Amino acid sequence: MTDQPLLSVSDLSVSYGPVQAVREASLEVRAGEIVALLGANGAGKSSTMWALVGMAPRTGGRIVLDGRDVTGAAPEDVVRAGIAIVPEGRRVFANLTVRDNIRLGGVARRAGDPHGPLQRDEVGDLFPLLAERWDQVAGGLSGGQQQQLAIARALAARPRLVLLDEPSLGLSPRLVGEVFELMAELRRRAITLLVVEQNVQRSLAIADRAYVLQGGRIVLSGDAAEVRDSEATEAAFLGGRTTTRTTTTTTVTG
Ligand SMILES: Nc1ncnc2c1ncn2[C@@H]1O[C@H](COP(=O)(O)OP(=O)(O)OP(=O)(O)O)[C@@H](O)[C@H]1O
Ligand SMILES: [Mg+2]
Repeated sequence: MTDQPLLSVSDLSVSYGPVQAVREASLEVRAGEIVALLGANGAGKSSTMWALVGMAPRTGGRIVLDGRDVTGAAPEDVVRAGIAIVPEGRRVFANLTVRDNIRLGGVARRAGDPHGPLQRDEVGDLFPLLAERWDQVAGGLSGGQQQQLAIARALAARPRLVLLDEPSLGLSPRLVGEVFELMAELRRRAITLLVVEQNVQRSLAIADRAYVLQGGRIVLSGDAAEVRDSEATEAAFLGGRTTTRTTTTTTVTG
């Protein structure tokens, strides 16, 4: 293995007609890292995530996964290449059982994966309640369990990189804690995470590095501790102008 990042995104732009949601954003995720993607409402976080899996209108840029250019690839091919997304809002198929939700997630299983479909006992290892409710419909699960199922469905693709969009949104404080514990556990299992979280301090406590989006641009990046301590981070969330400050590992533009 070289130092090549697992995911390398350069100059990514996304536009919805006249609305430019992401502007020449570049970021990297190295294998084994948790990277936080932060920013105020409308900053372009979800658009970035969706563009990575070929589901947002990308108008420019390049996406390389483990040395393989997946720019412009069909979503199912991106998932087979090893990127799975857990969308905002724990969207599960409410009328389908836990088992079938997970089975669907495995339809685009990573090419070359030696493990085969995600099995009930493996699910139970991470999410005991899901294994217990294996044959129940997803619509009957609690919000926290549905979030677990949305994550399990992504894991069924046997991804190398999981994109988590606001996984703790709307959950009780106890369940928020569980989501953060789960992220740490996934990292221990060699799953790399790119996480969007409104819970900024908590995500910076668990992340290795972070990027801050403001108005579609990455205005700050660096080690999580540096991003946490930067005035520019606060400015980005208040929607104010960013300060210009440059250190060896933290760059601020804009
Ligand atoms: N399908 C769409 N059509 C038109 N504009 C869109 C669409 N999706 C997002 N946008 C716009 O693109 C910009 C970025 O939105 P995006 O959802 O990526 O931001 P976000 O950082 O995920 O915000 P939030 O914190 O609210 O989830 C916003 O101005 C938003 O209104
Ligand atoms: Mg969003």
